[in-house]
Amino acid sequence: MKYSGYAYVYTIGCQMNVYDSEKLALILSSYGFEKTDDMDKADIVVCNTCSIRHKAEEKAFSFLGRFAKIKKKKPHLITVMAGCVAQQEGKKAFERIPHLDIVLGTQAFSRFGKHIDAVKSGKLRVVDIEDSSMIYEAMPDSTCFDENKISRFVTIMQGCENFCTYCVVPYVRGRERSRDPEKIVEEITLLAESGVREVTLLGQNVNSYGQKEGGISFPQLLARINEINGIYRIRFATSHPKDLSMDLIYAIRDLDKVCNHLHLPVQSGSNQVLKKMNRGYTREKYINRIYDLKKQCPDIALSTDMIVGFPSESKNDFYDTMNLLREIEFDSIFAFAYSNRSSAPAAKFPNQIDEKEKLDRLNQLLALQEQYTEKKNKDLVGKVLEVLVEGKSGKKRDGFEQIGKNLEQMTGRSESNKIVHFPSEHAKIGDRINIRIKDAYPHSLWGHPVGDCEYR
Ligand code: 5AD
Ligand code: SF4
Repeated sequence: MKYSGYAYVYTIGCQMNVYDSEKLALILSSYGFEKTDDMDKADIVVCNTCSIRHKAEEKAFSFLGRFAKIKKKKPHLITVMAGCVAQQEGKKAFERIPHLDIVLGTQAFSRFGKHIDAVKSGKLRVVDIEDSSMIYEAMPDSTCFDENKISRFVTIMQGCENFCTYCVVPYVRGRERSRDPEKIVEEITLLAESGVREVTLLGQNVNSYGQKEGGISFPQLLARINEINGIYRIRFATSHPKDLSMDLIYAIRDLDKVCNHLHLPVQSGSNQVLKKMNRGYTREKYINRIYDLKKQCPDIALSTDMIVGFPSESKNDFYDTMNLLREIEFDSIFAFAYSNRSSAPAAKFPNQIDEKEKLDRLNQLLALQEQYTEKKNKDLVGKVLEVLVEGKSGKKRDGFEQIGKNLEQMTGRSESNKIVHFPSEHAKIGDRINIRIKDAYPHSLWGHPVGDCEYR
């Protein structure tokens, strides 16, 4: 059916949810709803949820909870809980959000339209948390492109079968399945034609891409995407350390568009914790993998995910994690306090760590990393980095005024994913510009286009 009205889509969580929300917006647009950024105008509100940590889950309930009052004044408003919390909670979601209309699980997108029809024709409370071995395919459509967005996410596989003991993903995103490479190439070609210059390929463990389906491997997929005209940069997340192959390392080394950056979540530096997490590698194996990688790609930027306060993590285990940070010197990390998820096995593990202790460890870890992030950035001062221009910079800085008061301050990212600000007369979104780095801060670099006058 076709409807009229506005749709507001609110996204919580990871990059995959950002991609999924774009697909939900496409479905809504095919049903006649126009996208709005003004929640008050909405006739349908979708909250695309995340259940990886308690805080994210609570955010979803509090966002949707607000609509109790609004729906009293606007009874035709449709409210939808989509994604991981929806999958996890099913009809239990109505206990906390009685005014909710649709609970749309992670594998129910292809049936979303049907559920909207049902609610429009008077059905109360639709729940769809059925599993599916298929991946919902919705090709981007040129009317939904934001011209200024030169960088986009593209999910290449869904689900996970690694069953790390702290993680809900295998329970809420289902079995691992990969998209057809032809569909991925078609989608990225369309994106490139619409002006997209950088894609980030998403999957819980990209190394096992295509393995079940018996199609092409992940490095082979990278080689296909490397051929697409208009795409300048290819990023990907996430690689699992236990399956990082030499072929992937060679692909990073040899394919010109694949960025010189790897996100390789380690989670802990302690072998006893890694074992309890069911990660499938030891600290030594992880370090060896990094050495293999650095041998082939000496300048590679590295980032990781860490969890502190996993059940039974002793002070010494935590120091092992701190020491791993010192040993590897990551460019950046994402660190989290362990969050107990009732559907994941670790929820029942003995020796849970006190919340205050977890936060204390988290702060210590972040403070230590801050030094390395800054050091890595400072090492770049004087070097020339190719920057893909993303837009105008919101930042102002003394000294920049001196190099031409009328120059626009722009921002972009280096291949190693560092934010770079610079003044420029001509730079446009989507351009690649060589920038000589003049100053480095923990979270950004400052420089000026090579060839332009020095600003100090
Ligand atoms: N508690 C804290 N962090 C978690 N992550 C996954 N599950 C949990 C949890 N229960 C983190 C991991 C993962 C990242 C996406 O989220 O570090 O790599
Ligand atoms: Fe979760 Fe582990 Fe799968 Fe990553 S690999 S999604 S942490 S179960």
